[in-house]
Amino acid sequence: MDTTCKQSALGTILLLFLLWCLPCLSIADVIYHPLDLFSISCGSSTNFSTLDTRNWTADINFLSQTHHSLAVPSLTPSTIQGPYTHARLSHSPFSYSFPLTPGPKFIRLFFYSTSYQNFHRSKACFTVKTGPYTLLQDFNASLNADADNDPSQPDILFREYCINPQDGENLNITFIPSTTAQHPDSYAFINGIEIVSMPSYLYYTNPRGNRWIAHTC
Ligand SMILES: *[C@@H]1O[C@H](CO)[C@@H](O)[C@H](O)[C@H]1NC(C)=O
Ligand SMILES: *[C@@H]1O[C@H](CO)[C@@H](O)[C@H](O)[C@H]1NC(C)=O
Ligand SMILES: *[C@@H]1O[C@H](CO)[C@@H](O)[C@H](O)[C@H]1NC(C)=O
Ligand SMILES: *[C@@H]1O[C@H](CO)[C@@H](O)[C@H](O)[C@H]1NC(C)=O
Repeated sequence: MDTTCKQSALGTILLLFLLWCLPCLSIADVIYHPLDLFSISCGSSTNFSTLDTRNWTADINFLSQTHHSLAVPSLTPSTIQGPYTHARLSHSPFSYSFPLTPGPKFIRLFFYSTSYQNFHRSKACFTVKTGPYTLLQDFNASLNADADNDPSQPDILFREYCINPQDGENLNITFIPSTTAQHPDSYAFINGIEIVSMPSYLYYTNPRGNRWIAHTC
């Protein structure tokens, strides 16, 4: 499910939100304050802020305990501000777990497709899952980055999702290297994860009552 939607998804959400709220804004200043707001810099050991006023948090407190992942700096620093100086990566699966309030969430994954220590960028190929949903399947990051070729943000990829997690459960996101006989040294990596709660009235709920819905926005 490697559907490119990039920033347009957030744009669409904001536009929908504005259209929805314009009538009520004139009555009362309705400002939506998300209950959950996570900006995680994966592989970073320090918290930092960027000029866009995001406060990035080190990832160590959100990693599931049983993992053999590494926190590594990128060999070629990105000129773009953001969670791109480090990555969390591994040849074996690793997971993050987020305690969330009930309700729909917007999730954005950040990838900087470059080489990290002795992990060559062309070997990054992996699947990303949350609950019963597969967010990315055998995602070849360098192949996608080379195809995207956005000169203003070279080698940076976003993938965005709207998800309605089961109430009262942590949201787990798992990264699984796509190891095959042909590619025995594939690894999974991630640079940043953002999770923001969304107003429930913006969200399409499956009428058949399945509480778990994931789709690219
Ligand atoms: C980073 O921020 C988190 C959450 O605000 C906090 O728990 C943690 O102690 C901070 N880490 C450092 C290294 O300052
Ligand atoms: C980032 O942290 C600063 C200082 O604690 C705070 O004023 C600001 O609102 C935070 N920004 C976000 C987006 O949470
Ligand atoms: C998420 O992971 C934790 C362990 O890290 C586990 O206890 C919990 O059941 C998992 N939640 C879901 C929804 O899979
Ligand atoms: C990913 O794509 C690159 C081409 O950019 C290719 O060289 C590499 O073998 C692919 N990696 C995997 C693990 O499939």
